[in-house]
Amino acid sequence: MREIRAAALADVTPGAPHLVEAAGARLVLVRLGDRVHAIADTCVHQGGPLSGGTLSGNRLACPWHGWMYDVRTGQCVFPPRGTAVASYPVRVENDAVWVALP
Ligand code: FES
Repeated sequence: MREIRAAALADVTPGAPHLVEAAGARLVLVRLGDRVHAIADTCVHQGGPLSGGTLSGNRLACPWHGWMYDVRTGQCVFPPRGTAVASYPVRVENDAVWVALP
């Protein structure tokens, strides 16, 4: 596990998915209240970019066909097929967002 500085906290706008490309990974950061969550950017359906999706509360809808993910866990909540995208631990420190990658 390695931890990367993914973004400045000020760059992660509440209510809008924020794409990060770092260390060979594409991640989406989502700020909910005082917490930031990180999930993989690639939809498990056909690879749509979740960072281009629409956020509704804790749910992020893929822009291609509307599959929805819980940004807190990466779990796909619609359709309910038991699939998920990867979810990564996040730490906010000194106004920076740190993400732990495998
Ligand atoms: S590629 Fe994401 S819903 Fe189809």
